Amino acid sequence: MSTQTDTRKKVTVRRLAEMKKSQEKIACLTAYDASFAQLLENSGVDIVLVGDSLGMVIQGEETTLPVSVDDMLYHTQCVAKGLDNALLITDMPFLSFTTVEEAVFNAGLFMKQGGAHMVKLEGGADQADTVSALNKNGIPVCAHLGLQPQYIHKIGGYRVQGREAGMADKMLADALILQAAGADLMILECVPESLASKITAALDIPVIGIGASVDCDGQILVLYDILDISFGLRPKFSKSFMSTSNSIENAIQQYVTAVKSGDFPSADHVFN
Ligand code: KIV
Repeated sequence: MSTQTDTRKKVTVRRLAEMKKSQEKIACLTAYDASFAQLLENSGVDIVLVGDSLGMVIQGEETTLPVSVDDMLYHTQCVAKGLDNALLITDMPFLSFTTVEEAVFNAGLFMKQGGAHMVKLEGGADQADTVSALNKNGIPVCAHLGLQPQYIHKIGGYRVQGREAGMADKMLADALILQAAGADLMILECVPESLASKITAALDIPVIGIGASVDCDGQILVLYDILDISFGLRPKFSKSFMSTSNSIENAIQQYVTAVKSGDFPSADHVFN
């Protein structure tokens, strides 16, 4: 529910595809409550993600693993109340999509009871059947490749993914498979700049980067990182917009302007 006179178009899957085609950058941020969601809406953010990062920044956990379906549903309901035009994505939390049936059931809750317009799930080609089932049931999907925080104990630390040629080729192949399965959007996290550019060019669907490349079709960061109120360390790929702003709203607007103009990310916020 925006307080400003609204002349913006609704951000839909179709609109995102047009933005990729016309090379209009897509500005995305996370949010977890209605008040911040309304600030993001009023600042022209295109996509708001209720990320399972809420486990870390809201709940103070060390990883995203403890976050439950109920947590995600509650925060999605809060955020939905603050939005008018931005597209709302809800993250599928750890172990909430271990079977196709479970994925469709939980994603259905986020759409029907939460007000989400899309769900996001971590994983490569092995999630193609799930993406396909969600797609067939009318649930738009954002895939998530590169650093996948739900796999933290398999990876053994938060580090750049896809530096080795084999891994890079696999990531590109996974991206194409997920697109063919029906994914509508892709997030690439902590991926070398050249690989992120290559994947963005190879896909028809929009690609959103976080620690990836300015060539991606859009950018996403964790809201609390840009506001400098993160619990724990702020990652290298993130940037505080608070130090150059006199208000939270202004910091969010500066972030949107920097993404739209291609000023963010600079070389300091990507990986070789
Ligand atoms: O959980 C989250 O907030 C995310 C973004 C950082 C992409 O997955």
